[in-house]
Amino acid sequence: MLRVGVLVSGGGTNLQSIIDHVENGKITGASIEVVISNNANAYALTRAKNHNIPAFCVSPKDFPDRESFNDALLAKLEEFQLDLIVLAGFLVVIPKKMVERYPNQIINIHPSLIPSFCGTGYYGLKVHEAALARGVKISGATVHFVDDGTDTGPIILQKAVEVKEDDTPETLQRRIMEEAEWKILPQAIQLIADKKNQEE
Ligand code: GRF
Repeated sequence: MLRVGVLVSGGGTNLQSIIDHVENGKITGASIEVVISNNANAYALTRAKNHNIPAFCVSPKDFPDRESFNDALLAKLEEFQLDLIVLAGFLVVIPKKMVERYPNQIINIHPSLIPSFCGTGYYGLKVHEAALARGVKISGATVHFVDDGTDTGPIILQKAVEVKEDDTPETLQRRIMEEAEWKILPQAIQLIADKKNQEE
């Protein structure tokens, strides 16, 4: 069984997709053991609690410095003996020591076709604003392993989505979520679960 932890900061629609896939059997061999947010008000925490998944806020605001926050986050993760950590809209920089502790065990969903519109400063609606400003005809989403860069780790899955003439950043964001993110993130978890379960 692949033990999964999900890190979130916002609404949690990607988390909800993972929960739904596990609950309706579209993801097998994996269990969501914990959800952690840096934001106490993240609706994603409510989604976890609604499904009886342990949910915690570990916020940088509650620590005197970044190093002690990083240590607290790592300590909380260690409690759950995780095989995979999923960044689902997690807006905190992942500390190098966390990447080293979980090599090729952290994945991220990014709302563009990496290497386009990614890296420092490209998050949330900013990604879609940049895509529309550039005039691309397709965009999409990417699931990749997290390394010590920003959106630079090995790509696992991508899915293209059409950009429409009258798109706003909001309409493009929604379409990419519906048609790409909510599909390829669960698919990536299933690929990793299958690999682990075959090795056992
Ligand atoms: C998604 O657009 C995801 O691609 C990006 O942050 C957003 C999170 O949305 N990393 P949600 O919290 O999953 O609804």
